[in-house]
Amino acid sequence: MPTEIALEPTVRITQEQIDFFHANGFLSVPAISTPEEIERLKAIYDRLFESKAGREEGNQFDLGGSDEDGKQAVLPQILNPKKYAPELEEGLFRVNAMAISKQLLGEEATAKGEHAIFKPARFGAATPWHQDNAYWGPDHDHCSLSVWMPLQPATLENGCMQFVPGSHTWEILPHHCINNDPRVHGLELDHPEKYTAGAVACPLPPGGATFHLNKTLHYAGPNRSDIPRRAYILGFGLAAKKRETPHDFYWNRQKQTPREERAQAFQKKISAC
Ligand code: NI
Repeated sequence: MPTEIALEPTVRITQEQIDFFHANGFLSVPAISTPEEIERLKAIYDRLFESKAGREEGNQFDLGGSDEDGKQAVLPQILNPKKYAPELEEGLFRVNAMAISKQLLGEEATAKGEHAIFKPARFGAATPWHQDNAYWGPDHDHCSLSVWMPLQPATLENGCMQFVPGSHTWEILPHHCINNDPRVHGLELDHPEKYTAGAVACPLPPGGATFHLNKTLHYAGPNRSDIPRRAYILGFGLAAKKRETPHDFYWNRQKQTPREERAQAFQKKISAC
């Protein structure tokens, strides 16, 4: 039997980078992967979107639109893509993302889920300004981060990440469903113009990554380029802490998405088997 050799991290960040992350709520790292690995991931990634992997379960959906069957998604997303392609479990990108996340949050940090957001060429919509924490359960406090890795260059033209420095120290601000449409899963910050004047854009080469905290305000523009914009996002964090008084994330209670309906129908179907 071949002996599997566990991959070792190839990237470490400096104390200066760690300090920058804690002061600003984000950090840009030029490489956590290799060109060969990015080519491998890209082929898997495109296959998952083209085959609509996870759609029936509610794990593939349009993050930015009403998500009707047969309508082209403006912001296709897959939750937990490795469920549909276990080979994504292996890779240097994952080992480096975890090692850097432990440097940023502490050795106790563990993996917290992952997703993929695809922006079709000349069609992909903006991911509006939001704090990731606004999507989550209201009864816990989180200390977690997201690692956002593009599989081609990420530029202002195709929708690289943008952050508001220091916004990780703010409260969770009011959000609403994109276009105020409760069928849309994606959230948008209320009155972004009040908060985003000092935003910083982070273009990246393929296989680079940004790291941002759960309350850091961020945005990615529409894809105005001729190539698809593929982003793979990994989450890491410490154990969530139960709050004495839950947040009031009323925007999530207002949602009625086709994704939820599909997820419920799928659960019923498998529990009937
Ligand atoms: Ni986000």
